[in-house]
Amino acid sequence: MDLYEYQARDLFEAHGVPVLAGIVAQTPDEAKAAAEKIGGVTVVKAQVKVGGRGKAGGVKVAKTADEAYEHAKAILGMDIKGHTVHQVMIAQGADIAEEYYFSVLLDRANRTYLAMCSVEGGMEIEQLAEERPEALAKVPVSPLTGIDAETAQKIVTEAGFPEELRADVAEVIQKLWEVFEKEDATLVEVNPLVKTGDGTILALDGKVSLDDNAAFRHEGHAALVDERTEDPLEAKAKANDLNYVKLDGQVGVIGNGAGLVMSTLDVVAYAGEQHGGVKPANFLDIGGGANAEVMANGLDVILGDEQVKSVFVNVFGGITACDQVANGIVKALEILGDTATKPLVVRLDGNAVEEGRRILQEANHPLVTLAATMDEGADKAAELAHSAN
Ligand SMILES: Nc1ncnc2c1ncn2[C@@H]1O[C@H](COP(=O)(O)OP(=O)(O)O)[C@@H](O)[C@H]1O
Ligand SMILES: [Mg+2]
Repeated sequence: MDLYEYQARDLFEAHGVPVLAGIVAQTPDEAKAAAEKIGGVTVVKAQVKVGGRGKAGGVKVAKTADEAYEHAKAILGMDIKGHTVHQVMIAQGADIAEEYYFSVLLDRANRTYLAMCSVEGGMEIEQLAEERPEALAKVPVSPLTGIDAETAQKIVTEAGFPEELRADVAEVIQKLWEVFEKEDATLVEVNPLVKTGDGTILALDGKVSLDDNAAFRHEGHAALVDERTEDPLEAKAKANDLNYVKLDGQVGVIGNGAGLVMSTLDVVAYAGEQHGGVKPANFLDIGGGANAEVMANGLDVILGDEQVKSVFVNVFGGITACDQVANGIVKALEILGDTATKPLVVRLDGNAVEEGRRILQEANHPLVTLAATMDEGADKAAELAHSAN
């Protein structure tokens, strides 16, 4: 889960990372009250989960509370790269002398963590990494030690901080590591990390992604979810404990086991090339116990996707045998009744395949087509999706 800047700011504060005052507001009046409370120069910042808000006009300096009101009025409701602004943060204005960059993230490819740091912050880091890669220090961080004093020292030295700043920046970096570790984050990014006129180091912007797999050990994390921006299909799937990811295609996919579902996506995409370029509409792994209820919930989510024109059910019977899966499909269609309107191609194989196929043949549901192989099923589902377009 990605957090809003104000949520990241609050986590930073809780872990002792130096930040400025920040109050979230949903209306211009709230923004004005927040600016009055903070006092002095403030900055009105759009709260959307996308970078480059400054360039898009979503970050504006306000000298007075009335100005904060006006900026909030202009920024609320704004569209930034497809994200509607529902909230702004009123932040205390910083007297910026220099802007730096710091991030730490889960480096999956190298099976470790990676810290990145530069004395050239503020601009888009992708641009810096491309144009002047030598200006961006990359320091692997062992999960066993984390960013200890020694690693922090290495990071600030390689990033090119002058001697007199290193200790202060290293201290902030160690606090940011604490956020990363204690909150089970997969990314903590601060751009810009700034030095103010009086030499204080501050985190002025924050981007944090939390690992959803660790949600169970963080009671507070559930409250950070913003239902307004959650994909409604993904939310529904989550509520039903389904492993679902929405994609941008027309062929709904249901399978058991992540590996089988992944390869089904590939096979459907490949088959789609012969049928008008249709693509898989989702990832959905219904796991081992594919009973009728799980199947019905899965189908319900997929059929709720307006883009979906056909569904490919690809199941390999194991502990849950094909006859149980077939019964699950038949019952699921019963449960769904008239809401099931799109053709279903079913490929069953594995344990009790004959019995499974017999059950589906006998049920003879008008929406269901049986396929003998995975390739045949993918081809049929892609064809049906294409012809429905
Ligand atoms: N509290 C603040 N006080 C002064 N300037 C700020 C403040 N917050 C942001 N800025 C300025 O606005 C720029 C963009 O803000 P930032 O929070 O980094 O948003 P984004 O990365 O989405 O553009 C920063 O690089 C900084 O120069
Ligand atoms: Mg930024």
